[in-house]
Amino acid sequence: MRDIDDLIEKKTGLSIEEAMSIDKTNLYKKLGEETFWKLSTIFYTKVFNDEELWFRNIFKNRSMEDAIQNQVEFFIQRMGGPAYFSHRKGHPALIARHMDFNMKEKAAERWLYHMKEALSEVSAIDEDSKKRMMNYFTHTAYFLSIGVTGQQEARRNESGTS
Ligand code: HEM
Repeated sequence: MRDIDDLIEKKTGLSIEEAMSIDKTNLYKKLGEETFWKLSTIFYTKVFNDEELWFRNIFKNRSMEDAIQNQVEFFIQRMGGPAYFSHRKGHPALIARHMDFNMKEKAAERWLYHMKEALSEVSAIDEDSKKRMMNYFTHTAYFLSIGVTGQQEARRNESGTS
């Protein structure tokens, strides 16, 4: 097991098998495209209206419409559907695509808080699918937080010594 997976398991209690249980079934086929649009629309409506200004500000130069489309296409692709995201934008490269944002652990927690709420509001998603998705999101949010903040730190150190 990779060190980072161990670290995430320590922080979240989730093994890599639990985190990736979205791959044991095809959630795209089970839930359908419309459900993913609903989920991301509810999620980003919460994010763009967050009472926590510091979190809302992470998204301030982005359009909500684009953010929803990006997320829907990625989720569909990652959960067993057509590769809409890669066809339109190339490799997901999630760490690289988050490099300019505040990705501290607190931001991952807030992202997950909104996603959990959003999942609970989409009645078309059954409990088993919700759990699989939330486990995957939790693992990925921590993975991104650790990966991105590590690289941001390295970048700061490099520019400080040159
Ligand atoms: C840890 C907390 C997170 C923060 C603060 C964060 C922040 C952001 C921001 C500001 C954007 C730009 C919005 C846009 O224009 O699309 C974005 C895009 C995106 N995020 Fe996150 N994100 C987080 C976690 C995640 C997680 C857990 C996933 C996947 C499970 C994810 C997947 C994506 C994808 C696919 C995009 C679109 C990238 C693109 O099209 O360039 N993010 N995120």
